[in-house]
Amino acid sequence: MNCNRRQFLTTLASAMAAVSCSSLPGLRIRTEQNIPGFDYVLTAEPAQVSLIEGTQTPAWCFGGTFPAPVIRAQQGQPIRILFQNRLPEATTIHWHGLRIPIAMDGVPFLSQPPIKPGEDFTYEFTPPDAGTFWYHPHVNSVIQLGKGLVGAFIVEEANPVHFDHEQVLGLKNWHIDDHGQFTEFTTPRNAARMGTPGRWETVNGRHKPVYEVPAGGLTRLRILNLDNTLVYNIVVPDVEAWIIAIDGNPVQEPFRLVEHPIGPGMRLDLALHAPEEPGQEIHIQQAKGRFKFDMARLVAVASSTPIATRPIPTLPSNPLPLPDLDNAEYLSFVFEWEGAVSPGDDSKHKFWTINRRAWDKLSADYVPEPLAELMLGKTYIFDLKNVTPNRHPIHMHGHTWTVLKSNQKEIVPFHTDTVLLEKNEKVRLAFVADNPGRWMYHCHVIEHMKTGLMGYITVK
Ligand code: C2O
Ligand code: CU
Ligand code: CU
Repeated sequence: MNCNRRQFLTTLASAMAAVSCSSLPGLRIRTEQNIPGFDYVLTAEPAQVSLIEGTQTPAWCFGGTFPAPVIRAQQGQPIRILFQNRLPEATTIHWHGLRIPIAMDGVPFLSQPPIKPGEDFTYEFTPPDAGTFWYHPHVNSVIQLGKGLVGAFIVEEANPVHFDHEQVLGLKNWHIDDHGQFTEFTTPRNAARMGTPGRWETVNGRHKPVYEVPAGGLTRLRILNLDNTLVYNIVVPDVEAWIIAIDGNPVQEPFRLVEHPIGPGMRLDLALHAPEEPGQEIHIQQAKGRFKFDMARLVAVASSTPIATRPIPTLPSNPLPLPDLDNAEYLSFVFEWEGAVSPGDDSKHKFWTINRRAWDKLSADYVPEPLAELMLGKTYIFDLKNVTPNRHPIHMHGHTWTVLKSNQKEIVPFHTDTVLLEKNEKVRLAFVADNPGRWMYHCHVIEHMKTGLMGYITVK
């Protein structure tokens, strides 16, 4: 790694830390450890964190704090991360939404052996796409993600787009009681329905936080759903907020946010102008039916430097391969509710299927058959059909889809790594299978994935 690059990242990281310090106490970026040759050192470890004032929660954290360090990479530039597993159990780290080689995808057995307690692993890759992504383990996910192992991974545009300010908003509900102690992460009853919701709502680990934004300035919000279970319907009623990217992928043309649902694993980038008047507030809310609830607030503060009025920018598009729709092969996937409860053993519940198959256990000496085998370089059109009464954010690793149509709404084609299927919804999407490997394909409601709604697709 050359000097400038390291310097750049360190400067960037400390600038980030400086920016975030006031708003994100406890955010610690561990570049100061400065292990030669690494841009980041990321440690997963148990840590006490205070989520509810006056209480401590025995969380599992990256870097000993929540929120986890926001990792920042540059589009098209290599990044090296030294991962240290200091948990009492094995894990792996998956970089959600990044189109990187299979060896770095962080899925036990399919892409690497699990990283045992006390072991380290070097993740090294070059993100081809800019945008808002995230990272999380792919082992014992109900618990590992539930206890706090989730973090934002931001890839800066190779050609920077100017904003006066940027704010990351990582959404997560915690399964804790009034004393900060963990409650049940999952029950069979909930796993067979919408999943088990956490009851303590946080944004960046804080309940209804307030962040300062420059008055009259152009702010970029990077909203990430880091929750195991919940769909958040994002609304920003006070100002004109514009959707500029969905799941890290720039939209062709920014459009006004009315209400936009983000399921577990999904992201939304918004651009908005803060009010000119210092002290004025913007409420970042979630809609539950007709009712709206605050998740966070932004308050406009006078800025020391003059702020020019900037138009809402269109982000440069990512270098995705163009699907060849005329020569595509069609595959269909039906997501179904099975409800076959095998009594006694919780870990054996299989409630959900993809094309009538529930996920089999994966181990060092047993890898189940793929759901499909795709030919490297070829375009595929997937027809996804949800025949269950629940919503499923369906995600595939290593590729980015183009959503073409739905039987329930008008679709302006957009790119995504996770598509939210509504009850009885059918969605058509296309992509080029250009990344060889065995790629997980699953629902991101973690309890659904754990009870069957998971498989993988081979590209070769
Ligand atoms: Cu966030 Cu298997 O993915
Ligand atoms: Cu992923
Ligand atoms: Cu699901």
